[in-house]
Amino acid sequence: HIQACLFDLDGVLVDTAKYHYLAWKRLANELGFDFTEQDNERLKGVSRMASLDILLSIGKLTLEDAKKQELAARKNDWYVESISRMDHTEILPGALEFLQACRENGLKTALGSASKNAMTILNNTGLTPYFDAIIDGTHTSSAKPDPEVFLLGARELGISPGSCVVFEDAEAGIEAAGRAGMNCIGIGSPATLSQADFVIASLAEMTVERLDQLEQA
Ligand code: G6P
Ligand code: MG
Repeated sequence: HIQACLFDLDGVLVDTAKYHYLAWKRLANELGFDFTEQDNERLKGVSRMASLDILLSIGKLTLEDAKKQELAARKNDWYVESISRMDHTEILPGALEFLQACRENGLKTALGSASKNAMTILNNTGLTPYFDAIIDGTHTSSAKPDPEVFLLGARELGISPGSCVVFEDAEAGIEAAGRAGMNCIGIGSPATLSQADFVIASLAEMTVERLDQLEQA
């Protein structure tokens, strides 16, 4: 049965997509093309450099590696400025309550995020103490859909992958959970997250009791 819950960060626990979007849009505009909210959907769960490649393909630009590093750093500076002002009011509905419920019921909790800025966000929102293990983009060598981030989390918790459930809002993350041999609950729309075991609109719909639905599956 389920012994651990692993959480993606952006889009599951906090709404940082808007800050990523504003920073990527500013970069695109500086480069001379537009970047829409619909374009931004393609970047969810995708690593910083892979996101830049998608953005440049939208602008039909091919750049050298050194230039790409510079642009990614510029985008990140703007993003870091935005998240430096975050606080607990930006925790998504139900996230804190479900994390608390996990801990009260003896379930282990881990973060599994692609972001290299995860610690800043966790500290600014006050979420850090709710995790038994924190794995982020500074610990991994392969980005989702590679299962590395979740496998490292399970290993640090000492729980086998089959007893873990991942909460994810991005297709790449759901694929990563599947490749890790873990259960997965999608956060968002069932249409885009069809590979998850089941999909909920937000963690406000989640209870520890509902984890039983996975064990019967
Ligand atoms: C998450 C977000 C992505 C972001 C990635 C890397 O997966 O959903 O939009 O690109 O983290 O974040 P970072 O903070 O390291 O640029
Ligand atoms: Mg996400």
